Amino acid sequence: MTSTPRRQGVFRAKTIEESIADTEDPEHGLRKELSALDLIVYGVGVIVGTGIFVVTGAVAKQYAGPAIALSFVASAVVCGLAALCYAEFASTVPVAGSAYTFSYASIGELPAWIIGWDLVLELALGAGVVAGGWSGYVTNLLDNAGISVPDQLSHQGGHHGFDILAAALVLVLTGIVMAGMKLSARVTGLVVAIKVTVVLLVIFAGLFYVTGSNYTPFLPHSQPNTGTGSSLHAPLVQAMFGFTPSSFGVMGIFSGAAVVFFAFIGFDIVATAAEETRHPQRDLPRGIFGSLVVCTVLYVAVSLVVTGMQKYSSLDTDAPLAKAFKAVGAPFWSGLISFGAAVGLTSVVMILLLGQTRVFFAMSRDGLLPRAFSRVHPRYGTPYRTTVLLGVIVALIAGFFTVGQLEEMVNIGTLFAFVVVAVGVIVLRRTRPELERAFRAPWVPVLPVLSVCASLWLMINLSVETWLRFAGWMVLGFLIYFGYGRSHSRLAGRD
Ligand code: ALA
Repeated sequence: MTSTPRRQGVFRAKTIEESIADTEDPEHGLRKELSALDLIVYGVGVIVGTGIFVVTGAVAKQYAGPAIALSFVASAVVCGLAALCYAEFASTVPVAGSAYTFSYASIGELPAWIIGWDLVLELALGAGVVAGGWSGYVTNLLDNAGISVPDQLSHQGGHHGFDILAAALVLVLTGIVMAGMKLSARVTGLVVAIKVTVVLLVIFAGLFYVTGSNYTPFLPHSQPNTGTGSSLHAPLVQAMFGFTPSSFGVMGIFSGAAVVFFAFIGFDIVATAAEETRHPQRDLPRGIFGSLVVCTVLYVAVSLVVTGMQKYSSLDTDAPLAKAFKAVGAPFWSGLISFGAAVGLTSVVMILLLGQTRVFFAMSRDGLLPRAFSRVHPRYGTPYRTTVLLGVIVALIAGFFTVGQLEEMVNIGTLFAFVVVAVGVIVLRRTRPELERAFRAPWVPVLPVLSVCASLWLMINLSVETWLRFAGWMVLGFLIYFGYGRSHSRLAGRD
C-alpha cells in the first residue's frame, strides 16, 4: 500500500489509517453495535420531521402551490447525487464525524475545520429548529385539552417569549443521548414506527378528501414580491441576475426545493454513525440510500394529498397536515396527526443532537477543539462532556429563536457540506486510489461535479439574507481556527 505524501500547514491531512486507528483508542473510542436496519431506522427517524410536517405548508403557499411535489423531487435529486458521494466516503473512512472526518482525511485540516464548523449549523441549529416545531404541535394538543402556555413562555401565535417547551425537550433528550447509544436506538425505533404510521395515515385517509379542482393551477403563475426587505428575502439567484423578486412560476419550484430541502436533512447524518456500525463497509451505503428512498416517496405522496385536500393558498403554516384535516371536517384525524407529529419530531431532535455530539467529539479528538471534550464516559461509553455542553446551548437556541428564523441557515450549511464531500470524493480517488471502497460511486468525476453544481444551485436559490448570515458564521469559524485549532491540532506537532 502506498502512503499519502505528507502535506503541511492548513492542508495537512490525517491518513485514513490514522483516522481508523483513533477509533481503536479505548479512552476515546465509541462502541460498535449498529446494523444496516438500525441505520435506516436511524435515518428515517431524523429525516421525516419538521420539513414535511411544518415547512410543506409555507412552501406550497409562498413558492410553488401544488407543484411543491416537484420541489420535493428536485430536492431529492440533489440529495441522491450527494448520497452517492456520501456513501463512497463513508464506506472508505468509517470513523465518527461525517463530512468532517472525510474531508480531514482527503482535502486537509482547514477544509475539514470549515466543514465541521458548518455541520454545527446543520445539526445544532437543526435540533433547535425542530424542537421549535415540536413545541408548536404540543401547544396545539395542550390547547385542545384546555391548557394554555403563557405568552412569555411560547412562540405560538407570533409571541416572542422564551419557548419553554422546546428548551425542556432538548434538555430531556440530552440526558437520554448521554445515557448511551443503545437506549437511544431503542427509543428511536419506537418513535419512528409511530411517525411513519402517522405519515401513512395522512396519505391514505387524506386521499378520500382530495378535490381535483385544488390542483388547478398546479403551478401558479410567477408573481412579483414587493414590500420592505423583499430584496433581502429574495433568492440570491434573482438578485444576481437582477430579476424582480418573485414567487411561483418555474423558479418557484426551485426556491421551494431550496427550502423543503430541510425535509431531507438527516440522511447524511447516518454517515456520522460509521464508527458505531458493526459492518460499516457494507451497511452504511444501505442505510443512507434506504432512508433517502423511503422519505422521498412519502414526501411526494403527502404533498400531493395535502394540496389536493385544501387550496394551496389556504394551507396553514404552523401545522398544515393537521389543519388540512380540520378544514375538510375530519377533526379526529387532525388530533391523531398532531399527536404523531409531536412524537415523531422528538426522534428528529434526538438524532440531530446525537450527530452533533459525534462531530464535536471527532473535532475535539483531533485537537481542533479542546481535547477534554472527547473524553468518553467510563460507564455509558458516550462523549458526555460534549453532549451536555451542546445540549445546553441548543436548549437556549430553541428557547430564543423561531423555526422561520433559523431554518434556511441549516439548509445552506448542509448544502455546503455536500459540496465539500463531493469534492473530497474526487480528491481521494486521486490521492488514495488503492484504498478499498466497499461502495464506489459511479461516473467519477462527472457525478461528483454534477453533485457540486446541483447543491450550489439550491444554495443560490436561498435568500440573500441567509447568504449574509452564512458568511458571518464562516468568518467566525476562521477566527477560531486561526486563534486556536491551528496551533492545538494533533497534527501541529507532526509539522
Ligand atoms: N429532515 C428533518 C426535518 O424535516 C431535519 O425535520
